[in-house]
Amino acid sequence: MVVRYLVTGGAGFIGSAVIRRLREIAAADVVNVDKLTYAGNLESLSAIASDSRYTFVHADICDPARMRDVFHTFRPDIVMHLAAESHVDRSIDGPAAFIETNIVGTYTLLEAARWYWQGLKESDPVKAQGFRLHHVSTDEVYGDLNGSGCLFTETTLYSPSSPYAASKASSDHLVRAWHRTYGLPTLITNCSNNYGPYHFPEKLIPLMIRNARAGKPLPVYGNGQQVRDWLYVEDHARALIKVATEGEVGETYNIGGHNEVTNLEVVERVCELLEELAPDKPEGVKQYRDLITFVADRPGHDLRYAIDASKIERELGWVPSETFETGLRKTVQWYLDNEDWVERVTSGAYREWVEKHYGEQAVDGAKHG
Ligand code: NAD
Ligand code: TYD
Repeated sequence: MVVRYLVTGGAGFIGSAVIRRLREIAAADVVNVDKLTYAGNLESLSAIASDSRYTFVHADICDPARMRDVFHTFRPDIVMHLAAESHVDRSIDGPAAFIETNIVGTYTLLEAARWYWQGLKESDPVKAQGFRLHHVSTDEVYGDLNGSGCLFTETTLYSPSSPYAASKASSDHLVRAWHRTYGLPTLITNCSNNYGPYHFPEKLIPLMIRNARAGKPLPVYGNGQQVRDWLYVEDHARALIKVATEGEVGETYNIGGHNEVTNLEVVERVCELLEELAPDKPEGVKQYRDLITFVADRPGHDLRYAIDASKIERELGWVPSETFETGLRKTVQWYLDNEDWVERVTSGAYREWVEKHYGEQAVDGAKHG
């Protein structure tokens, strides 16, 4: 039987990895609903653009009529909801888009899904029985683990710190309420920091690779001792498809990489890999690590995130296949091989953001020893 997947945010970093993987499954039809914000890029899906089993719909998840129309026309079996504003620093500078897409957009999608699913119960009870909506969320909803030595489990209380995390926490609450109140068959996953190919170069790892190659400062917030638990994006995509297809409706699954690393160590490892893989350094740069520059800390910066992923391992048999060493090497190599992709996605609007956020030095390429 061919399974029909509706993926929101499929032109983004993780959504495109999910769609590329879904299209490797022969019995999957995929529709990708994406607004194409600055973070959405269809080039990440160019390999399947003309595939008859893949359809792109340029639409905003906040538009109720368009969402109903997508459900009505495409008749999905599984919805994987990834569309979101996803960058913490942007959420601090301008939270409105996060409230709109992450909260109102999720609400709009839930209502369209509920309308469709109610209709299915009349017209096609078997299809209604199998329908499920998988909401993709983040470990940032749990807040800061600083000093506790604990890991986030599925029952950790929510305590979001940033506008981004608060908007994702709100969307998780909406999804749970739609399940409990209306019986909508939903699942939620909360995942740690992802890295890998096609990551927009405003996030830590691709930003550091891009800046290092350009001889620009590598801006480390505060003292760089903040800890994140890194997961290779293709491991996340595999986990998401497993949960969407095999997870138990109404359940939450944490996903993580068992790779707790400080930000400073991440940047140092990127520099070491660049020394090996791209020894032809920009003029005036002796060692990439000389570009590391400590800058003002992020307001409200969470010091530590770490995931207990034992539930998804135990119940669904998922484990990550990449270590941080293997995944980071692949990632650095991918960015070196795809410098033209990076230049294309970093539009004028992106450059304005960098200038505003990091100051003119970062844009001009001033070096720090
Ligand atoms: P991303 O920013 O790379 O991509 C988001 C995509 O959503 C883009 O293609 C964008 O165009 C689209 N989009 C934004 N607003 C939209 C709207 N109103 N309507 C339709 N499309 C819209 O994000 P990502 O890193 O791929 O994250 C995907 C999901 O995974 C998000 O929900 C995020 O919260 C979650 N997540 C991300 C990470 C991470 O480390 N990146 C970790 C855990 C969870
Ligand atoms: P980021 O990639 O923005 O992801 P998130 O905020 O969702 O965890 O940042 C990862 C970590 O790296 C976070 O602790 C902030 C830090 N960071 C820097 O130190 N410098 C930077 O320029 C950026 C973008 C992030």
